Amino acid sequence: MNSPKITANDIRAMKTRGERIASLTAYDYPMVKLLDEAGIPLILVGDSLGMVVLGYPDTTPVTMADMEHHVRAAARARPRALLGADLPFKSYETVESTLANARRLADAGAEFVKAEGGRAILPQVKAVIAAGIPFCGHLGMLPQSVREEGGYHIKGKNETEREALLADALALAEAGAFAIVLELVTPPVAKEISGKISIPAIGIGSGPDCDGQILVTHDLVGAFPWFTPRFVKPSLDTGAQIRLAVADWKKSLAGPA
Ligand code: KIV
Repeated sequence: MNSPKITANDIRAMKTRGERIASLTAYDYPMVKLLDEAGIPLILVGDSLGMVVLGYPDTTPVTMADMEHHVRAAARARPRALLGADLPFKSYETVESTLANARRLADAGAEFVKAEGGRAILPQVKAVIAAGIPFCGHLGMLPQSVREEGGYHIKGKNETEREALLADALALAEAGAFAIVLELVTPPVAKEISGKISIPAIGIGSGPDCDGQILVTHDLVGAFPWFTPRFVKPSLDTGAQIRLAVADWKKSLAGPA
């Protein structure tokens, strides 16, 4: 018998049970199928696809059309996992544009949407949730602000940042978000936030004490070998294996000398 489809409420309940949430990104049909078969309960079509699939230097050039294209491919895998998608850069500046774009992603097959920011985007978050689309927050280092901030900087290093992160996390939980990604937050602050909010805090580069962890799958399996974040230890060297398989095949075609 097939196991039942995972919902946003199921992800929230994992925190209540003390079960660690393992989450990964996927941008197409085969990767969603593989992650689902491996038992990953939460899969994100992240706008990190801008770097690891589309070859951009950061996530800011990713468009709604890019996201819809990849969400449709990912959703065709019909995973048991909860499958969500990022609202890309500048797609959630007003309540109206946020609602329209969240609905476009939901129509493409996203079962939740994620956007970067806390109290600054609370009206947008509330509107998405009121429209019946589950929402995942994203706090800490916000990749869509990388150009403004001049790099990927760790957050929570001083009291002002700690207080702001905590207030943002509490506000998102209060607004009805089902989970929050904490990216590049100092481990003690990530631990404190995880302990103080009722919904799962899912860390990336934020230490071991969050309710779950998320990684870009390409980083985990060495499929984008030209850059690996410091906090990831790849468990495979897919890039090297592809080069080797291709070179072996090429050699097998060589005719007699
Ligand atoms: O875009 C992305 O893949 C993400 C996760 C890594 C959190 O936002």
